[in-house]
Amino acid sequence: MSFMNWIDARFPATSTWNEHLAEYYAPKNFNFWYFFGSLALLVLVNQIVTGVWLAMAYKPSAAEAFASVEYIMRDMDYGWLIRYMHSTGASAFFLVVYLHMFRGLIYGSYRNPRELIWIIGLFIYLAMMATAFFGYLLPWGQMSYWGAQVIVNLFAAVPFVGEELSVWIRGDYVISDATLNRFFALHFLLPFVLAALVFIHIVALHKVGSNNPDGIEIKKNKDENGIPKDGIPFHPYYTVKDIFGVGVFLIFFAAVIFFWPDFGGLFLEPPNFEPANPLKTPEHIAPVWYFTPFYAMLRAVPPMFGSQFPGVIVMFASILILFALPWLDRSPVKSVRYKGMLFKAAVAIFVVSFIFLGYLGMVASTKVILGFTATFWAQLFTAVYFLFFLLMPWYSVLDKTKPVPERVTQ
Ligand code: HEM
Repeated sequence: MSFMNWIDARFPATSTWNEHLAEYYAPKNFNFWYFFGSLALLVLVNQIVTGVWLAMAYKPSAAEAFASVEYIMRDMDYGWLIRYMHSTGASAFFLVVYLHMFRGLIYGSYRNPRELIWIIGLFIYLAMMATAFFGYLLPWGQMSYWGAQVIVNLFAAVPFVGEELSVWIRGDYVISDATLNRFFALHFLLPFVLAALVFIHIVALHKVGSNNPDGIEIKKNKDENGIPKDGIPFHPYYTVKDIFGVGVFLIFFAAVIFFWPDFGGLFLEPPNFEPANPLKTPEHIAPVWYFTPFYAMLRAVPPMFGSQFPGVIVMFASILILFALPWLDRSPVKSVRYKGMLFKAAVAIFVVSFIFLGYLGMVASTKVILGFTATFWAQLFTAVYFLFFLLMPWYSVLDKTKPVPERVTQ
């Protein structure tokens, strides 16, 4: 080990390994919900690696972008694989992160002392959304073009400065070559910002330690050596468990890449197989599935004085409200296991609303569902979405909770 001694005298290699892995004690009762953090990390690495490879053949110009993607798909060795890993990876990223956030929601992982982990997570989520938005323009298909057109136009709804703001974002009066070029630059940059945010996310996590499905603070119950009685070393126990999770994930991931890469039009939308045409608006413009709940909320709000601004506010508010979550939940217990029917019912209704909003964001707003228009349903579920958060200070207190055990359960 003299080599390691040489390194350790110059760089804290062994001590970092011990502090964050071999002697980092995590609660022993993690269940499958705890896979998704490490899976998100895996997908982030996948996106960066495949993205850099794609960038070697991709041409960020309006004249060449679409054809360069076709070239990658048809002529470049394994180009199709790299591109499908990247496009499927984008959807997998959101799926995994939504499940990761949901875990935080049900086990109260956002609460004292983990508020900052949650808040950094939300900055990660915002950076992910921006990255996905910039990336979606790059293939320069019909939906790339018109999707960007719709979203950048939202900024034009901002009072007084809107017009200038949208021109500043596009670098032009319409989505054009200049827009594509800058979106490419930003799409390349943001994943590295994401990686930095993820680093801070884990630093914050390791400062306070992980929560667990029981919502019990394992640091409150230590043995004579100062080791939490309900903790086990992260390495090897959870490294092995996480590798199992990675294996299961990769089976599904590979199945989609090889057999169903467009995922029925959800992961790669049909209009995007046509080159961008500024003179032809597609019949339905809808973002990719992971944005549709927010798109439904945007469309649910009617314009005021001809301006879409109120809808834009509601859409942004739907994400900003997540920042307040640690202070909205006033329940005496953290985990859903010991919360009462009020909280469980609220979460169930919230999940159903969010999924329905996702569906409503994909269909035409005039579509009639069970006798009412999609717009009506979107208004209803938008209200439910906000009420879940706004009423939480009350129902979390009124809820009849169960006593929390001293030690974690298996
Ligand atoms: C690139 C995206 C992300 C990565 C790579 C990531 C990574 C991780 C990892 C590795 C953990 C520890 C393992 C685990 O608890 O599953 C963790 C915990 C956590 N993350 Fe994330 N995360 C991401 C996004 C988010 C987002 C968007 C949120 C919420 C807004 C969030 C909130 C949390 C919370 C609250 C914990 C502590 C959970 C607990 O101890 O119960 N994360 N994250």
